[in-house]
Amino acid sequence: MNKLRKKGIHDMLNKHDGLQLKRTLGAFDLVMLGVGAIIGTGIFILPGTVAALHSGPAIIFSFIIAAIVCSLAAMCYSEFASSIPITGSAYTYSYSVFGEIVAWIVAWALVLEYGLAAASVATGWSAYFVSLLEGFDIVIPHALTGPFNPAEGTYFNLPAIAIVLILAFFLSFGLQESNRLNKIMVFIKISVILLFIIVGVFYVKPTNWEPFLPFGWDGVFTGAALVFFAYLGFDAVSSAAEEVKNPQKTMPIGIIGSLLICTALYVTVSLVLTGMVPYTDLNVSDPVNFAMEMVNQNWVAGFISLGAIAGMMTVILVLLYGGTRLLFALGRDQLLPKSMSRLNKNNSPVMSTWIFAILIAFCTGLLPLEKLAEMTNMGTLLAFMIVSIGVIFLRMDKQLPPGGFKVPLFPFIPILSFLSCAFLITQLSVDTWIASGIWFLVGLMIYFFYGRGHSLMNK
Ligand code: ALA
Repeated sequence: MNKLRKKGIHDMLNKHDGLQLKRTLGAFDLVMLGVGAIIGTGIFILPGTVAALHSGPAIIFSFIIAAIVCSLAAMCYSEFASSIPITGSAYTYSYSVFGEIVAWIVAWALVLEYGLAAASVATGWSAYFVSLLEGFDIVIPHALTGPFNPAEGTYFNLPAIAIVLILAFFLSFGLQESNRLNKIMVFIKISVILLFIIVGVFYVKPTNWEPFLPFGWDGVFTGAALVFFAYLGFDAVSSAAEEVKNPQKTMPIGIIGSLLICTALYVTVSLVLTGMVPYTDLNVSDPVNFAMEMVNQNWVAGFISLGAIAGMMTVILVLLYGGTRLLFALGRDQLLPKSMSRLNKNNSPVMSTWIFAILIAFCTGLLPLEKLAEMTNMGTLLAFMIVSIGVIFLRMDKQLPPGGFKVPLFPFIPILSFLSCAFLITQLSVDTWIASGIWFLVGLMIYFFYGRGHSLMNK
């Protein structure tokens, strides 16, 4: 049997037994989906510690470097998403270019990325939510507000579990409904970020930017590896490929557009933030709020808490969405049980939605995610590398319909993208390498004991 069995792009572009998602999204929806997926803990939690401990005011360079790495990969994603507008993102692309086993590994990496990222963000959401409730004198018992850690007196994180399950409930009502919810939340999130910038600018003291590079360029690069997490999520936009109108044009606008908007906001916020408060004081879990409190603008701080809660909610929603679409694609290809691709009357893959949500709820409720957060980056970077190099092979396929987005400076950009992701992977810790190794071993076992025998490719 052919070990590298591949799917022909033509077969993929044809219908799948009526298991087809409906095309309802336009470019604006897609940019909203992207911004919804990207801006979360990366702006509300990360900049404080990264600026204080690693980059100083030069955190803006860290954000820019991470944005460059992501935009290289984003171009490669865009070419794929516009050539093969089918759900499943990097998994689907790898299936056509490298064959089933690589595709399965990519899918397994993406389940890790979306699942753990959603779980980490849910933990961050829970922290903001608990402190907001405390502002109204509503106290959730301490035991129910953290991961399983009897020494600290916490047993499980109830708010984090609840938000994941509530969002899964919304998703099971279909994309149109979730999309509406997403747009409202993105609107709130961008409004509070703009409010922060507009009010904050009046409190900037340029002396706070001195020294601008307190930890040198080394600090800037370490910072870049950390704030990489802040951009994570743009690839989830490509999961929407099958539900987008006119994907050849719309996908690149959605992916690159949302990345540009986020970069602009991140850079501006971190510039204002480090201008308002000396970077040495920023080692706090809610830096954006904290800065406003420092200048006695408590009303703005209150709005920011609300925005952070709304903002992180959309991140969880879109990551959840990406993961469920991936499981849907795996079920449709029968690498996982076919029931994963069953659609309910709202055209939503209900089984994959609930299974994925319950797994995430389990992780976010019980596990100390800070230690596992790096694993999210491992999954992401691996998928980026495969997509980057995949574009080179995609171009060789002469059967592809003409038109659509093409990566400029080919093949320089795909190669650079591959190398820069490989470099960032080498920056991850040994623990992460070991934990990821175990994860991929389990994945391969599932493939060889289940997926390979059941795959639709056997038929
Ligand atoms: N980019 C997402 C965030 O910052 C994961 O929360």
